[in-house]
Amino acid sequence: MKHKKAYINTLGCQMNVYDTGRMENMLAASGYDFTDSFWKADLVIINTCAIREKAVQKVYSFLGRICGIKRRKPHMVIAVAGCVAQQQSKWLTERFEGLDLVLGTHAVTRLPHYLERIGQGEGPIIDVEMTAEIDEAVPEPAHSQSADISTFVTIMRGCDNFCAYCVVPFVRGRETSRRPETIESEVRSLVAAGAREITLLGQNVNSYGKKEGLCAFPELLRRIHDIEGLARIRFVTSHPKDLSDSLINAFDTLPKLANHIHLPVQSGSDRVLDRMNRKYTRETYMDRVEKLRAVRPDIAISTDFIAGFPGETETDFADTIDLIRRVRFDTLFAFEYSDRPEAPARRFADKVDPLEKKRRLREILDTQAEITAQIYHGLVGTTQTVLVEGLSKKPRGQGDSPEISGRSSENRIVNFICPEDEESRLQGRLVDVSIERACANSLWGRMPDARNYGPAASIQAKGGKTNAA
Ligand code: SAH
Ligand code: SF4
Ligand code: F3S
Repeated sequence: MKHKKAYINTLGCQMNVYDTGRMENMLAASGYDFTDSFWKADLVIINTCAIREKAVQKVYSFLGRICGIKRRKPHMVIAVAGCVAQQQSKWLTERFEGLDLVLGTHAVTRLPHYLERIGQGEGPIIDVEMTAEIDEAVPEPAHSQSADISTFVTIMRGCDNFCAYCVVPFVRGRETSRRPETIESEVRSLVAAGAREITLLGQNVNSYGKKEGLCAFPELLRRIHDIEGLARIRFVTSHPKDLSDSLINAFDTLPKLANHIHLPVQSGSDRVLDRMNRKYTRETYMDRVEKLRAVRPDIAISTDFIAGFPGETETDFADTIDLIRRVRFDTLFAFEYSDRPEAPARRFADKVDPLEKKRRLREILDTQAEITAQIYHGLVGTTQTVLVEGLSKKPRGQGDSPEISGRSSENRIVNFICPEDEESRLQGRLVDVSIERACANSLWGRMPDARNYGPAASIQAKGGKTNAA
């Protein structure tokens, strides 16, 4: 029998990447194959993000294009999933003729059911119901399928924080944690399928389990830490207001915890932080940073900033630049403030001029680029332990030797050359790489000794403490 082909376009954060993985497992179990070209697809799914206006525009232009193709390929089924689906369900079906399915953020597991109904001529179908159940079963990947070396597991969904600018609580619903035993067994089966690094996902992992009375996040980390074959654990996102001492301590007691934390600060000004409803001050933020560095002196800290939040003055902005210089982040993500229809900041007066927002964004990025360059140059000559993920995306071509790519414990991309024919053997292993060059967003080096790695089964986790800063 000829299999149907599915094409999935995933936008937005790791939550969507994880949900796309779940959809893929369900589709594979219902007999679908996957294609990289939407021209060849019988089913096209776009998994969407609503965090900023630009992300939403991307969805509209993709849908316009696909619905155009459908006029020539009428049997094609088109589905929208994710946060824009949740936010704009009815409008989407009105605006885009040919759209068959709007699958809200809590409806992922009902995908196969709806595809069957659409196959029988129903549609368009909209499901944006918010359900309480979070641990719905999804078929595990078939044995022939292997897991990515670095992969994601959602431990909670939704958010109760209602930061003034943010759409997430409206499109993902209330914060709900999955049961620890379900998470543990999912991690176990991913590791059995070849995963070596797991990133635990939640909008605010530090409040994991609190509402439901489950174990606390550091305890969940400890349970996962015990899983044999797992080399590294990461988590995103930590909300600074809930970064507890016991989580900071986990960096001391759990060597598999990567030597990196993403701790979004958003602004360096107390006045702006208050208006954002972030519930911490720059002092408490810097205090947490200090505590983290007391436990892991060389921990890499990354963050997010919003440039030009309504009412942000030059003085507020100067506080942001000052914070960047004081903390010396390893890297950061920064975004121009974007009004979201549901978020209260939309109604705040004194919006910052668009050109001024751009200027501030640029200054944030330039300030950080200088710091990242200093940190990265300081790493030339050191040895970094790299988890090998695969061939480099952009081989720089050093002779005929293959170039391999992976990440250090600090989450820095490391590309390196390795002996010929070794690349497939290195995949999924922790190898020591001596760093010879610093690039803008990555490091470059070579393996000093081709024999310095063991068989995949005897992978030893190395905490970042072993990496020289
Ligand atoms: N839960 C995470 C953030 C998730 S959204 C946390 O609390 O940190 C990822 C990032 O997008 C945020 O950290 C913020 O910097 C940015 N962001 C969210 N809403 C935005 C908006 N309306 N305009 C610009 N940036 C926004
Ligand atoms: Fe959005 Fe704030 Fe929740 Fe993060 S913590 S998802 S920024 S509301
Ligand atoms: Fe975007 Fe939804 Fe994630 S709005 S950032 S895809 S939770």
